[in-house]
Amino acid sequence: MAHYDAIFKNGTVANQDGVHAADIAIRGGRIAALGSLTADSADQITDCTGLHILPGVIDTQVHFREPGLEHKEDLASGSLSAVMGGVTGVFEMPNTNPLTVTRAAFEDKIARATGRMHCDFAFFIGGTHENVAELPELERLPGCAGVKVFMGSSTGTLLVADDDGVGAILEAIARRAAFHSEDEYRLEERKPLRIPGDPRSHPVWRDPEAALRSTKRLVALAHEYGKRIHVLHVSTAEEMVFLADHKDVATVEVTPHHLTLDETAYDRLGTFVQMNPPVRDKAHRAGIWAGVANGVVDVLGSDHAPHTIEEKQKPYPNSPSGMTGVQTLVPIMLDHVNAGKLSLERFVDLSAAGPARIFSIARKGRIAAGYDADLTIVDLKRRETITNNWIASKAGWTPYDGVAVTGWPVGTILRGSTVMWQGELVSAASGRPIEFMETMQPPGSFSP
Ligand code: DOR
Repeated sequence: MAHYDAIFKNGTVANQDGVHAADIAIRGGRIAALGSLTADSADQITDCTGLHILPGVIDTQVHFREPGLEHKEDLASGSLSAVMGGVTGVFEMPNTNPLTVTRAAFEDKIARATGRMHCDFAFFIGGTHENVAELPELERLPGCAGVKVFMGSSTGTLLVADDDGVGAILEAIARRAAFHSEDEYRLEERKPLRIPGDPRSHPVWRDPEAALRSTKRLVALAHEYGKRIHVLHVSTAEEMVFLADHKDVATVEVTPHHLTLDETAYDRLGTFVQMNPPVRDKAHRAGIWAGVANGVVDVLGSDHAPHTIEEKQKPYPNSPSGMTGVQTLVPIMLDHVNAGKLSLERFVDLSAAGPARIFSIARKGRIAAGYDADLTIVDLKRRETITNNWIASKAGWTPYDGVAVTGWPVGTILRGSTVMWQGELVSAASGRPIEFMETMQPPGSFSP
């Protein structure tokens, strides 16, 4: 008989070896034992009868707006929204103010996050024409998820539109870099297609060809420089087919928004569904689901991009692009699991194992001995209605207000501590930087 800090008892674990009953014992923030642990004791025992226990969900794309845009969100409120939705770790984006493009700006974010964020965190460093020479050092800073490049402009001023600029970045770096892939030249050309007051013209302006053209350029550059690339929020059926032929260099993210919403949402939600790359028609949505089904998609990212209701109410195209998403990722995707669109195992693959695999995260992404005890505990059969009122983000709204789902996050466990239980925040902010294998070793010693 052994004694542990905590045991999560009587739950059904969804993991690398399938979905089966198992107790999970935790010591020192890590998983210590798995299986039938009826004879063992613990300081804290949580009964999970009727619940499923998943490896902690890692959202690999969020915008938490701090510093500089705290009226939309900050690191505390964004991470509160994350843990209320069952998310245990986030990768945060560099289009803050100042931009996260220097060592000082990066270290400032880590300092602000420490003691204030409710989940574990990593920050992307923005790649620019100006900071290429420093990127090899910057991408290796503790807590850095890698380099993020905007090839098409979106919220903020980060932009590297040209092949020479993207090539120079790929040449400089060693880790996998993440890309917002829309062709800036085509976006510029097509700007007159935006119809003032009509957000349905947003996907006409930022058309599928703009995304495909950029992704083809990016993949060619990745081959040329022999580097690994991650294509964020893929939004077209054509890119998904193209990327299936380039899995040697390319990994793929999709968002719950692109899997759930289609062109009909513009009539209902107007500028509130406006994002970059845009929500498109049903054929593209089906193409993205095909990528989930055939395995081309590696990870889910919510692209949580909060803007205030007042900002979103501005007439198109003065309305900013982006929707909240970190808190609704788990319930929206569990609803898709219940509808038979993907298996629970594939959801675990996309939300935990996938991020760990493609970003070389240390000790996270599976429920296994020695791993961080990050757990997302869900009630697969619970029927709930998502409301703006439930959203902890400062933005205070979701495109799914009033949407009923089956499947709900009921517990968020971070390194063994219960952070959220049954909708209540139950412990103080204790988020830490996520560790990456590539930055734990001396330069040059890592072979992927
Ligand atoms: O719609 C978007 N909003 N897409 C992005 O790439 C950026 C994001 C934001 O930061 O608002």
